[in-house]
Amino acid sequence: MIDFEAFYKITYGLFIVSSGDTVKGNGFISNTVFQVTAEPPQFAVACNKKNFTAGLIAQKKAFSVSILEQDTAPDILGRFGFKSGRDFDKLDGMSVKYGETGVPIVLNAAIAYLECTLVNTIDAGSHLIFIGELVQSVLLDKLKDPLTYLYYRQVRKGSAPENAPTYIDKSKLQAGKPAGTFKKYKCTACGYVYDEEKENVRFSELPDSWTCPVCGSEKSDFIEV
Ligand SMILES: Cc1cc2nc3c(=O)[nH]c(=O)nc-3n(C[C@H](O)[C@H](O)[C@H](O)COP(=O)(O)O)c2cc1C
Repeated sequence: MIDFEAFYKITYGLFIVSSGDTVKGNGFISNTVFQVTAEPPQFAVACNKKNFTAGLIAQKKAFSVSILEQDTAPDILGRFGFKSGRDFDKLDGMSVKYGETGVPIVLNAAIAYLECTLVNTIDAGSHLIFIGELVQSVLLDKLKDPLTYLYYRQVRKGSAPENAPTYIDKSKLQAGKPAGTFKKYKCTACGYVYDEEKENVRFSELPDSWTCPVCGSEKSDFIEV
């Protein structure tokens, strides 16, 4: 048997992985950055082949990782995690510095960052595993806690889009469970699904000022699914 809810017991952080240069730079939200070796320090990230950033990393042969703080604003998560740099300049208006390799490093909501040169790329089907060797790492804020995937899901009520390796089709989670009379409402901007059964509060009972916990869209932007 495969119980998809068992996957949720794996812990991750949340990051903005960026690449490119001053002319065309971009970044995406990732929960799959991890350290591979200590000597030399190497870090890996699973990047969907469809992500605009994937091409930039392959071309530039370098990437940066911004480690996000627990209170990262919903619009940062929405901008980098649910929209593509193919459609607009994600770095426009952001606080960005350029690293030793020339890649952009997003500083908004970052408590630390890493910069790596690409040393290996593994083809894992839908995703490429980029492995980078550390060029520099900087701690920006000693005191703030990092945003974990668990906190993002359980406290911030966030979800992951199809491009994320940890995406789980909701129908798989529901398999074998009674449908009930609860309804679900989907954010038309980022795809977040408000589940009345899980939240134990009817969508209609939420105040009009309530906003999407993932991307900050208004209650009126939700449709019943
Ligand atoms: C919580 C969260 C975790 C994500 N993790 C990953 C990941 O590890 N790998 C990945 O390829 N995409 C991941 N994504 C999806 C990308 O961030 C998303 O597809 C993004 O729009 C791609 O941007 P780009 O096309 O500008 O590169 C994640 C998204 C969210 C919200």
